[in-house]
Formats: sequence, structure tokens, C-alpha cells
Amino acid sequence: MPRRNKIALIGAGNIGGELAALAARTNLGDVVLFDIPDKEGLAKGKALDLEQNGSILGYDSKIIGTSNWDDCAGADVVIITAGVPRKPGMSRDDLLSINLKIIRNVAENVKTKCKDAFVICISNPLDAMVYELKKVSGLPKERVVGMAGVLDSARMQLFLARELGVSVGDVQAMVLGGHGDTMVPVLNYCTVNGVPLRQLISKEKLDAIVARTAGGGGEIVKLMGTSAYYAPASAAIAMARSYLRDQKRLVPAAAYCEGEYGYKDLYIGVPVVIGARGVEKIVHIELSAEEKAMLDKSAAAVRELLDAAAKL
Ligand SMILES: NC(=O)c1ccc[n+]([C@@H]2O[C@H](COP(=O)([O-])OP(=O)(O)OC[C@H]3O[C@@H](n4cnc5c(N)ncnc54)[C@H](O)[C@@H]3O)[C@@H](O)[C@H]2O)c1
Repeated sequence: MPRRNKIALIGAGNIGGELAALAARTNLGDVVLFDIPDKEGLAKGKALDLEQNGSILGYDSKIIGTSNWDDCAGADVVIITAGVPRKPGMSRDDLLSINLKIIRNVAENVKTKCKDAFVICISNPLDAMVYELKKVSGLPKERVVGMAGVLDSARMQLFLARELGVSVGDVQAMVLGGHGDTMVPVLNYCTVNGVPLRQLISKEKLDAIVARTAGGGGEIVKLMGTSAYYAPASAAIAMARSYLRDQKRLVPAAAYCEGEYGYKDLYIGVPVVIGARGVEKIVHIELSAEEKAMLDKSAAAVRELLDAAAKL
């Protein structure tokens, strides 16, 4: 008998709440909104509000709030936002020591309660958190992935669409590398419905958009005092849907490299195909010498972060 998918959201804060809302509205499955005991009321309150929202919007998803990992048992998808977000003036890397402890605790629970799930990490610093998650949970690399590239590419697509005066739906951009200042927009693969970007925009304007994309998260933190949540949630839901519906979407995501692009034992943003088997493949694309050098620099920054994490 067919059954509804179960989606466990670890962290019921800003992104967690929006993830729950999107999962319900798009009928992705039933939702468990988990947080620490101190925040159980927040998780339960959001869950109840969102279930009541279903009476108006017409969805049937069951949504529960909890601080008990048993309620997450057997989830098909786990999306992790547990941790603290940035405050103005902070880099993602500044979150390392606080969020590392939280991720280790989450990973232990994923290992015992959700060992068959497809796990998407959102918590920052992303590449180090997803690495730790895989290491501690022991889940296979195909089922542990980090969300960053879909969001960073979406930001770039928006900036390009506004600059060019075209529909954002017609703009394709791809941003690879670590989720930080060293991210790498691969301009040869950025097009407006197949028309190479470089034919449409001056180098100066493109450089400015690349810089704004790299600082895209920080721009929002400065405005709101905390990090973005609508677009990050949509990006992770798109990845979850590709897994649950076996869509086999090709998207940039932080995946575990074992030689791909010349990197070993490292999570970094690369193009992947997400389908029913999780990260079904890492797709190799040709990079210019300049792009490869930028990706190497980004990989070195991620490696530095992993070295720092190993000492904590
Ligand atoms: N990957 C990306 O592109 C991206 C984008 C935006 C934000 N982020 C990151 O996502 C994370 C969450 O952001 P947010 O805005 O939702 O923060 P938030 O503070 O609103 O929510 C985080 C929640 O995690 C909970 N939490 C803490 N420890 C926990 C534990 N052990 N188990 C379960 N839950 C726990 C907190 O109680 C809080 O409710 C941050 O680290 C932020 O930097 C990543």
C-alpha cells in the first residue's frame, strides 16, 4: 500500500518553519518539526499553526512539533538547520565551534533513528557541517548532501535577470565551490535560454554581479540581523523533491568527492544528479584554467575549515 513520505526537519527556527510550510503546501509528505527541549513549544506551535493553514489552503499533511528523536524515526528525508545563524559582521566560519557540537549530536541521532533517510544539511559553515554529518552518522555519501549551490545560483540568476531585464525563469547560472567568499560562478555555463551570458552583459557589470552573489548571504544578514530563510528553504525542498520523486535534477550541491575534480575526502559544491538513489552521480564539467584555479582555492579554504574542525 502506498504511504506518505515522512520529512523530518531538525531545527524549527526560521528556515525550519519555512521548510515545513513548503513541504506541506507542495504535498511532499508529512512533517516532523524537531527542536531542542527548550524550543519544543516553538516547534509544536509552528506545527499547529501550519496544520490549521492546511484547512484554508487545502493540504492534508500532518505536521507535528517535538523534541523527541523517536518521532523522527523512519524519516524518508531529513533536513538539518540545527545551529545558530550569522549575525551582522560574522562570517559563516565564525559559527564553526558552536554548530560543530550541535551537528555531532544531530548526526548521532540520525545514525540511530534515521539511517535510511536522504539527509540534506543546511547549517553553516556548510561544507564542514555536512562533512561532519557524514563522518559521525556513517551514512553512505550518496545520502548525505549539503545545500548551498542551488541558493547561490538562484541569487545570481535573480541579479542577472534584473540587470538584463529578462524573466528570471529564463536565466541559468551555476555556482560551484565552498559556500563562502570563495564560491565559483562558472560563467561558461551561465546562459539566458542558451544564449551565453558574455554576449549579453559587459565584463564590468558581470564582475559586479559575481561579487554581489558571493556576498549575497551577508547582504541579507546586514539588513535583517539574521540569515535568509525563504530562498534557502525553497532550495532544500527542491533537492528533497528531486530525491522523493526521482526527478534526477542536475543541480550544484555540496557532495563528497573521492577523486572527482581532483579532490579527495572533501565536501564541496559540484554539479550532481539527485534521484531516488540520492546523489546518483557527480557530473564532470569542463572548467577553464581560471575557474579550476578558483575552485582549487575554494577547496583549500574548505580544507582549512576541516582542519580547524578536527581540532575541536
Ligand atoms: N546553506 C545555506 O545556504 C544557508 C542559508 C541560510 C542559513 N544557513 C544556516 O542555517 C542554519 C539555521 O538558520 P536559521 O535561520 O533557521 O536559524 P534559527 O536560529 O532560526 O534556527 C535554528 C534552530 O536550531 C535549533 N537547534 C539548536 N540546537 C539544536 C539541536 N541540537 N537539535 C535540533 N535543533 C537545534 C535552535 O533551537 C533553533 O530553533 C544556520 O546555521 C544558518 O547559518 C545556511
